[in-house]
Amino acid sequence: MTKLFEPYGLIGTKLSNRIAMAPMTRARAPNDIADERVALYYAQRASAGLIVSEGTPISREGQGYLFNPGIYTPEQIEGWRLTTNSVHALGGRIVAQLWHVGRMSHPSIQTDGRAPVSASSKQPANSKAFGYNEEGLPGMVDAPAPRQLSTEEVARVVNDFAQAAQNAIDAGFDGVEIHGANGYLHEQFLNPLVNDRDDQYSADTLENRIRFTLEVIDAIVARIGPERTGIRLSPYGNLFDMPAYPQIDETYTALAEAIGERKLGFVHLMNQAGYSSSAPGQAGFNNLLRTIRSKLQETRLILAGGLDRESAQALIDEGLIDMAGFGVPFISNPDLVERLRNGYPLAKADPTTFYGGSGKGYIDYPPYNAAASSAP
Ligand SMILES: Cc1cc2nc3c(=O)[nH]c(=O)nc-3n(C[C@H](O)[C@H](O)[C@H](O)COP(=O)(O)O)c2cc1C
Repeated sequence: MTKLFEPYGLIGTKLSNRIAMAPMTRARAPNDIADERVALYYAQRASAGLIVSEGTPISREGQGYLFNPGIYTPEQIEGWRLTTNSVHALGGRIVAQLWHVGRMSHPSIQTDGRAPVSASSKQPANSKAFGYNEEGLPGMVDAPAPRQLSTEEVARVVNDFAQAAQNAIDAGFDGVEIHGANGYLHEQFLNPLVNDRDDQYSADTLENRIRFTLEVIDAIVARIGPERTGIRLSPYGNLFDMPAYPQIDETYTALAEAIGERKLGFVHLMNQAGYSSSAPGQAGFNNLLRTIRSKLQETRLILAGGLDRESAQALIDEGLIDMAGFGVPFISNPDLVERLRNGYPLAKADPTTFYGGSGKGYIDYPPYNAAASSAP
């Protein structure tokens, strides 16, 4: 028995184990509302110690992909209740991942065909949103040059995050995870090669670059308290045209320090470094992981990205992380915790059914049938 499968305290509640289901967009919410099918998908995975929901847009402006269940209208809040009730009925815990994509959107899914907004005015190279194509059909479309948010509008976006956190609690979520990772709005402020502002959120100083993220944290904490507030970060990641920059370590060290001081519930790191040959790579991430750990004080640390049972167990037993996040393995193994605990084989996920479409590849992956597999 390892700590991985033992109960653990986080976000002010007791989790049944230290395994987290990482957030995964599945683009299966008609009208951007989480329905019964979404609830079934999460209920099937409720044995995870903690589920982090797929990214849930905090506003129409914050949406970059079709069929994402949002958290900003009464109907969306009502829709998510089906999921949170189902997960809770099975003893699971679930937090909402609060998402603003910034420039990773497209006029076809924005109100009145407006341009996406960002910290920046720079168009992301080779980056696609999921909107309506020229034929009016859902498809991958180039994210155009964004409109830079005015200083006053930044305050409004901060408030949108805080309201969404309140909405998440109203919908029955156990807490929230701010999506500060993977090239979306927070990284567009943090990255000095993307942020081209000249106000108090500019890239001129570290303090200015991290100001937006800290304001969002503080606004959410003021609404729902620090314990139920977490944030996802992906240092050394370069998804969606996020170039590596010299100040990566100092940026995330400062953020970790500020987060530890604020006693947030958790930081969820996504290790993206290994996914890109142009990133400084795994070594940079691994060093930074230790530094972040040392700054977090009581704030818990979750790590996701390419983990398996052995690495998860080793990192937890070493005390370097508190919980292990799994993404793709949860898609095809709804009973992942049981499989890892018993050493059962893992089913392989089909990437062609990751996003959108029917229940195929979504709610039809069965749990492992030990009886059938041990039959002669
Ligand atoms: C289909 C799919 C959708 C994803 N959607 C999100 C998302 O909405 N938010 C997010 O932070 N990460 C998202 N991710 C990244 C995962 O949370 C996770 O970090 C990644 O899959 C690496 O973990 P793994 O190696 O265990 O799969 C997604 C990954 C996949 C495969």
